Amino acid sequence: MVQGNGGGNGRAGGGDASRDAAALKRGIRELAAERDAVIISHYYCVPDVHDVADFVGDSLGLSQEAQRSPRSVVVFCGVHFMAETASILCPDKTVLLANIEAGCPMADMITPEALVKRKAELPGVPVLTYVNSSAAVKAHSDICCTSANVTAVMRSLPGGRILMTPDRNLALRTQTLVPDKEILLWPGFCPTHHRVNAEEVRKLKREHPDALVLAHPECQPKILAEAHVVGSTSGIIKACLESGRKEFVILTEEGVIYPLKRQRPDAVFLTPETPMVCPNMKKVTLLDVLKALETMTPVIKVPEEIRVPALRAVERMMAVPRD
Ligand code: 13P
Ligand code: SF4
Repeated sequence: MVQGNGGGNGRAGGGDASRDAAALKRGIRELAAERDAVIISHYYCVPDVHDVADFVGDSLGLSQEAQRSPRSVVVFCGVHFMAETASILCPDKTVLLANIEAGCPMADMITPEALVKRKAELPGVPVLTYVNSSAAVKAHSDICCTSANVTAVMRSLPGGRILMTPDRNLALRTQTLVPDKEILLWPGFCPTHHRVNAEEVRKLKREHPDALVLAHPECQPKILAEAHVVGSTSGIIKACLESGRKEFVILTEEGVIYPLKRQRPDAVFLTPETPMVCPNMKKVTLLDVLKALETMTPVIKVPEEIRVPALRAVERMMAVPRD
């Protein structure tokens, strides 16, 4: 599928709807200033939400922006665990999650209780947890990682055996890059990235032999084997912007294409026939952002008894130098 350069809500043409959207966006910006709020959006949210955000980025980058911001309120356009990470890093700020229904099925594939049980079976084995997880799971982990720093974090850990949670595909990928460790898997996955069909990818490659193929490590190993570049959301965007190629096969959530098209209007971005869409990220609308600012709800506040150990795991990750 070829992705067009549609902005706003992705519909062609102007008219009342686009005038209303522009007025709504102006109203949101004005209210954000009144509320002393910074609006941050994950790349996977809809273009309209990108348009009103002060920052658009990947999950950890956004929480760091929240921390750096001088504003006292953070409106998080993304899923629940991301707002929790902002709360872990910025306990003195009011963190609002624009749509409380936006959860992450992968983060829900591990509970703190299940992790505690598994740890009891593996005494002395460090637990490395992907930031795409709840604060309570982070609190029971030794250290966190993102898809951008996972190899450096893995190499920094003592001992040969590591339990990695919750993403099995990221763990399998890391195992190939850090073969001297024995990585024990957790059976979690991201449904959006896991379901990519290898035959659809091969068809795109046959039809576009000059295209650069970029995949997120949450995809299955058979998909990563077809890719020229494997990287985090930010890594994929950076690789496209730095490449001289004109065609790109994007194997991550389609939301990244909106900022890519703006920066590379000359390029063509191709996606598999079965769309890679995260339904939870797409739940966040402009009206949600407006309502969050009007009502100053829903607040995400991680309790101190969870925040302190979760912060320890996040800070250990941040202390690892990038490789
Ligand atoms: P990153 O934004 O950290 O690459 O994570 C991908 C993802 O699936 C976020 O939900
Ligand atoms: Fe969760 Fe995957 Fe959606 Fe990210 S893209 S929020 S990992 S389901």
